This record gives sequence, structure tokens and C-alpha cells, in this order.
Amino acid sequence: MTDSGTPPRRGIRSFVRREGRITSAQARALTELLPVFELPGQADSTPADWFGNRNPLYLEIGTGNGENLHLNALANPANNYLAVEVHRPGIGQLLLQVAAAGLTNVRVSTADVHEILARLPTGCLQEVCIFFPDPWPKSRHHKRRLIQTPFLAALQRVLASSGRVRIATDIDDYAESILECLANAPGWRNLAGEGRCAPCPRIRCVTRFERRALEAGRRIHDFLIARRD
Ligand SMILES: C[S@@+](CC[C@H](N)C(=O)[O-])C[C@H]1O[C@@H](n2cnc3c(N)ncnc32)[C@H](O)[C@@H]1O
Repeated sequence: MTDSGTPPRRGIRSFVRREGRITSAQARALTELLPVFELPGQADSTPADWFGNRNPLYLEIGTGNGENLHLNALANPANNYLAVEVHRPGIGQLLLQVAAAGLTNVRVSTADVHEILARLPTGCLQEVCIFFPDPWPKSRHHKRRLIQTPFLAALQRVLASSGRVRIATDIDDYAESILECLANAPGWRNLAGEGRCAPCPRIRCVTRFERRALEAGRRIHDFLIARRD
């Protein structure tokens, strides 16, 4: 509550928290594995505390069922991977894969990514992936889209100077608005060239979400951007 007794004003939410269908295996993973892999509550703990090493840190925002993060963590044991996803059944699914593969280089959070970015140390991330952020297709909902100028500024603080951000969307006008944000954000460099999209990165596997977009005939737009220092 604020001094005036009103609840504190929340930022705009880029998601609707729906528990939806959850399998018994996912529910069990949330009970048994989440406490093992979840970021600790202490806001002042650091990535070195979470992983027990200082390996390069890769963040994926909105991991869905975690297919990409699981495959990349498996292929790159010398990197650390942080999955942030508010959809708890998806985190349950990722944890099942992480535990089955015996991965020790993965940590997860079910918090809003804005809260996580605020607690990350400056310059700690080697790479950030945001694959198919919620599209919010209606014009009156565009303000709920994740990729906007203030969000890019928060990302810029936590990205290492050599760091990269990868974004993919299947929504044409979302892609246009991302290009517009980049054109107006002097702190970012579009590595594909101004106003251009990047090739599909090898690290992105086709998820159920992307498959549906392709089946519907939608074009996928990829972005690869870096800090301009
Ligand atoms: C359209 S899905 C894409 C999932 C996955 N990346 C894929 O390609 O299949 C977008 C995901 O982002 C998550 N998300 C949206 N806003 C978020 C936020 N502020 N913090 C954490 N997760 C968020 C949603 O819960 C949703 O699962």
C-alpha cells in the first residue's frame, strides 16, 4: 500500500497469468524441482551465487515449454542459462527436461521479467533471447507488448558490452514497431543493418508456437541487436 492507502501502481503487464491445463508431471516438477532450480528470494544474491561459478550467463525471456533453453543448456555446459517464464506449467515442463538430462547450468524464475531485470547486476548477461513475445494484436493492446523503449533500456543496463539480444516475432506490425524502437534508441546497434531483419539463428528450434505461425502462413522476423558503446 502507498501512504495514501491505495495499492501501488503496477507497470503495464505483457502477459495474462493463466494456469491453464497442467499435467500431473508438471505439477510434481513445480513442487519438487522448482525449489531446487528457482532463483533464491534474497534480492542481493548474484549469478555467481545461483550457479556457483562465473560462467557466461544467457537469459531467455518467455521460455514457453523451454525447448530452446533446454537444448542450448545441454549443448553448452560451460554457459549458464536463466529461464524466466510466468506460465508455471511451462516452467514445470522445462524442469522435467532439465532434471532428466541432469543439467546443473540452468536456473528458473516464474516472476515477471521486469522484476528479474531490476535485480540483475549491471552488465552480467552475455545474451538475451526473446522468441515470440506475446503478440497483443489489437491496437488498443499494443501498449502491453514487451519490446518497447523502456524495456530495451532495462535490457541495455544488464547486457555485457559484448552482449547480444535475439528477438523473433511472427507479427508483421510488431516487427515494424521493433525496428522503429531500434531506430529511435541510440544505445542499440541492429547487427543486420538499419531497418533490416536478421537470418534465423541456429540456436532457435521450432516450437509448437512457431509451427502454428508457419502453418497459418505468417512470416517470421528475427532480430539480432547489440549495445552501441
Ligand atoms: C507467445 S509465448 C512464446 C513461448 C516460446 N518462446 C515459444 O517460442 O514457443 C510468450 C511467452 O512469454 C511469456 N511472458 C510474457 N510476458 C512475460 C513477462 N513479463 N515475464 C515473463 N514471461 C513473460 C508468456 O507467459 C508466454 O509463455
